[in-house]
Amino acid sequence: MKSYSINELIQSPPLKQEVEVNGWVKTFRSNRFIALNDGSTIKNIQCVVDFEQFNENLLKKIATGAALKIKGVLVESLGKGQNVEIQAQEIFVHGEADPDSYPIQPKRHSMEFLREQAHLRIRTNTFAAVMRVRSALSFAIHAYFQKNGFYYFHAPIITGSDAEGAGEMFRVSTLDPKTPPLTENGDVNYKEDFFGKETNLTVSGQLEAEAYAMGLGKVYTFGPTFRAENSNTSRHLAEFWMIEPEMAFYDLKDNMDLAEEFIKNIISYVLENCEEDLEFLEKRLLDEEKTKPMAERGEMALIDRLKFVVDNDFIRITYTEAIEILRNSKPNKKKKFKYQIDEWGADLQSEHERYLVEKHFKCPVILFDYPAKIKAFYMRLNEDGKTVRAMDILFPGIGEIAGGSQREERLDVLKEKIAALGIDEKELWWYLDLRKFGTAIHSGFGLGFERMVQFATGMGNIRDVIPFPRTPQNAEF
Ligand code: 4AD
Ligand code: MG
Repeated sequence: MKSYSINELIQSPPLKQEVEVNGWVKTFRSNRFIALNDGSTIKNIQCVVDFEQFNENLLKKIATGAALKIKGVLVESLGKGQNVEIQAQEIFVHGEADPDSYPIQPKRHSMEFLREQAHLRIRTNTFAAVMRVRSALSFAIHAYFQKNGFYYFHAPIITGSDAEGAGEMFRVSTLDPKTPPLTENGDVNYKEDFFGKETNLTVSGQLEAEAYAMGLGKVYTFGPTFRAENSNTSRHLAEFWMIEPEMAFYDLKDNMDLAEEFIKNIISYVLENCEEDLEFLEKRLLDEEKTKPMAERGEMALIDRLKFVVDNDFIRITYTEAIEILRNSKPNKKKKFKYQIDEWGADLQSEHERYLVEKHFKCPVILFDYPAKIKAFYMRLNEDGKTVRAMDILFPGIGEIAGGSQREERLDVLKEKIAALGIDEKELWWYLDLRKFGTAIHSGFGLGFERMVQFATGMGNIRDVIPFPRTPQNAEF
């Protein structure tokens, strides 16, 4: 007898044949109908039990959460909600789930509660749907780059450089924290540490990707990155995944074109391949939004939002134009923003980004040519001497989903910037070497993977789109 996934049974049912399935009980109704799910699809298979055929003790073990193997004949179903069902002939209980203590019962659980059960929440429809979409997006990302001449590049996780220069890093050390070796000045002597220097978990693979782009041409990273920023928001994780393409001979315009095409492509893939999960997530989101005030509800249902992004050009405006729009905006004039926009040079907060995307343009927006002062040291300085060739991609409901730039390829300009920031040139010697030997214009960007998963699934909190979230004060699992 062949063992099938539930998805196989539903997609191309071997009717009237004996089949075997394994899965977890979603519900067991009237001592007769088992809804079984194995994760292969959002759909359950109904298994019909003739209780006279089975031992009472066995039936008692069948409860929500139990793992079963069921053998039986697959037949057309007359019941509502499914085309086929299994007439159970044999049931084997892999493992029971005591209804008094199994936390995932067939009712609505709050997201907060489920975060405390992160090891079990994958058994809910919502998390299974989100994680299948997450998996599909990962595949689409690799497929896009592999089809388009990019090489997958593995950036190191442990690094000595702070790419973003923000200093929000997790130290990697094997020194004894109680009695670390000290220098003559009383500082910790990292020369005696494992790597003979201070090292951290990477915040971005970009600098290393730049080195590889200057030999392989087009590369991309797709891996975990770490930020020790104390941000308790629905958009920040301490450990998140980032996709960072880096391309030799690309200027900022090429970079923006690539980013837009790439994002549209991976969303299209999900639309085409995750239809049932998206339909489920769309309904979930509508239900959730009903409980919110009108102003906080999305204007479009989930699938329409995704189609809208695929079908429409992203708006592209400079930072300077954005500041003008914001300065003249209603919330700014009425002092409704937490951070008032008065002057050119102000850093944009998430409230400003979301105003531009959700209220003003109602469309994804790429902002470019930011003030040098508010951006990282590696971005290419414009002729005006005060803006850099940076770009941020802003999405409705999300805010910044990707950020990138054309890189400073001129050795002298880069050295000046590094000096102005008080960074020791010696720390970046190899990065500067790239400008000494065969330098060329090049560009890249970083897409926050979880923020993309949030957009694709309509999940409001980033903690609910990664299996085991790491946030301040939280690394339980
Ligand atoms: O804007 P960021 O900091 O850019 C970089 O790291 C560049 N080195 C990228 C590049 O040019 N290669 O981060 C890129 C994206 C953000 O736009 C955001 O989507 C996401 O990464 N991101 C986070 N996602 C979740 N939690 C956090 N704490 C994040 N910080 C950034
Ligand atoms: Mg950024």
